[in-house]
Amino acid sequence: MLKKVVITQPLPDKNLKGLVGRCDIAVLSGKQSLSSAQARDKLANCHGLICLLSDAIDHFVLDAMPKLEFVSSVSVGVDHIDVAILTERDIPLGHTPGVLAAATADAAFGLLLAAARRLVEGDRYIREGNWRPDNRWSADFFLGKDVSGTTLGIIGLGAIGQAMARRGAGFDMRLLSWTPSGRKVSGVDSVSLEELLSRSDFVSVHLALTGTTHDFLSADKIATMKPGAVLVNTARGGIVNELALAQALDSGHLYAAGLDVFESEPMAMDSPLLHHPRVVVVPHIGSATALTRAKMVELAVRNAKAGLDGRPMPHCVNPEVYPVFGAG
Ligand code: GLV
Repeated sequence: MLKKVVITQPLPDKNLKGLVGRCDIAVLSGKQSLSSAQARDKLANCHGLICLLSDAIDHFVLDAMPKLEFVSSVSVGVDHIDVAILTERDIPLGHTPGVLAAATADAAFGLLLAAARRLVEGDRYIREGNWRPDNRWSADFFLGKDVSGTTLGIIGLGAIGQAMARRGAGFDMRLLSWTPSGRKVSGVDSVSLEELLSRSDFVSVHLALTGTTHDFLSADKIATMKPGAVLVNTARGGIVNELALAQALDSGHLYAAGLDVFESEPMAMDSPLLHHPRVVVVPHIGSATALTRAKMVELAVRNAKAGLDGRPMPHCVNPEVYPVFGAG
């Protein structure tokens, strides 16, 4: 009998062809919570789960899947999943690193430029009918902040942070980095976090959200950022203290922010960040290009196929679940 794989929301058929014939596929609508009674019925007999970052895979959901043998997430971040429970149950978790690095760094650099050069504010200005003959152009009209030749501080130097560094180099920026792992990359000065925050004109966050990075850019750390700096976050919302960021923008300590990710998504419409004209927000679209998403699904399917066959996944978050791990 074929094993059952549940996919939490419809994905393009052509990307799933690697699974056809190898398992029974059930696709949920993606509109209901996985802990709803309807979804739990479908999960009860599943051996494999393919999920997205918007699915909270917590202990309630995992308890509803006693036969679960693998999880494959179409995301690089796995903070939506209780990895500890999976590891305890010897269930491998696959994710999709690498393939979204370029698209996400493009989005991060786009946010950096948009925030520094007030591009969204300018767009709004015209659409709201404010650009009139009497204020057509003046020497101090819509001044923004220089990007080229300034200093970019990159927090986290994984594939996305490194791709961001290459974009910064193209803009003649001095590159500073700090990573929890101490990783060093040629052309990027590895410095202490304090030095990075105090020297950078632009700070871009590229950390994974974990227990230790939650609230990582706290009010205290934001207070040590260089006056007039711009913060860009395309990693996860919970890493930056949003209230402290809004206060730093309101007080004029920070110049602007470009944000793709938020503590809670969709973001609350009464968030103080939305009241600040120099905050550019987009709805978690860092990896949202057709090609990148296709590559992410392809990788998630490769992980799922390995899960079905009982082989090690090509990109496994918790490889310690495999007996061979650490044996040598
Ligand atoms: C995007 O945020 C991802 O984790 O894939």
